[in-house]
Amino acid sequence: MGFFKTIREFIDRQYQTPKGMIGTYIGEKMVRQHKIETNWSLELLNVQQGDRILELGCGAGYAIKLILEKDLAEEMVGLDISPTIIRSARIRNKKALNENRVKLVQANFIKLPFHNENFNTVFSIQTIYFWTDIATTLSEIFRVLKPKGVVILTFSDGKEDETWEGIRGITENQVIPSMKNAGFRDVSFVRGPDSRGYHTVTVRGTKD
Ligand SMILES: C[S@@+](CC[C@H](N)C(=O)[O-])C[C@H]1O[C@@H](n2cnc3c(N)ncnc32)[C@H](O)[C@@H]1O
Repeated sequence: MGFFKTIREFIDRQYQTPKGMIGTYIGEKMVRQHKIETNWSLELLNVQQGDRILELGCGAGYAIKLILEKDLAEEMVGLDISPTIIRSARIRNKKALNENRVKLVQANFIKLPFHNENFNTVFSIQTIYFWTDIATTLSEIFRVLKPKGVVILTFSDGKEDETWEGIRGITENQVIPSMKNAGFRDVSFVRGPDSRGYHTVTVRGTKD
């Protein structure tokens, strides 16, 4: 029992912050596992010519690659705390990096190393479980967004017939109120397509 618990905790830590060879493997596994919620989030983003886009917790860089294929964004930045996963994102987006069409930054999303009002869109997929300070992270996102900028946060809040009350509670009692406190308008909660049986949900808000 103890052995399996230790293995489970090790794998959970790899999803939180991929590290080393196993982290590289988990990063690629997440690319396959998160395709549905990634495509759904990009539909919501609706990238337009000249957009400046930031992804928080970009993982192995699959969403970035899809955005760059559209060839519309003026600036594309991916941020992640894990050097292992930044390496995977670099490999996946090597050509665009060589052409200076993307930047990959190793940093913590609690303190964003960007100027005020720099991006039209900030998005994040399957990371909210790891936010240690929701209010601070949301006020950082608000700071780096331009007026009329949009934030899109996609995650799962249940599987099949089950709703995860913990995540639903954090969404309703912390994420949505903190977004409103940070100054976001038109804050909405949208259900997307299920992914491997997991419920896909997005919280969206706009900066005035
Ligand atoms: C579950 S993975 C999701 C990755 C990617 N968005 C996807 O959907 O495949 C969570 C990602 O968030 C990153 N992460 C966790 N805590 C972070 C933090 N405090 N700051 C920046 N990135 C973080 C991890 O390194 C990991 O790449």
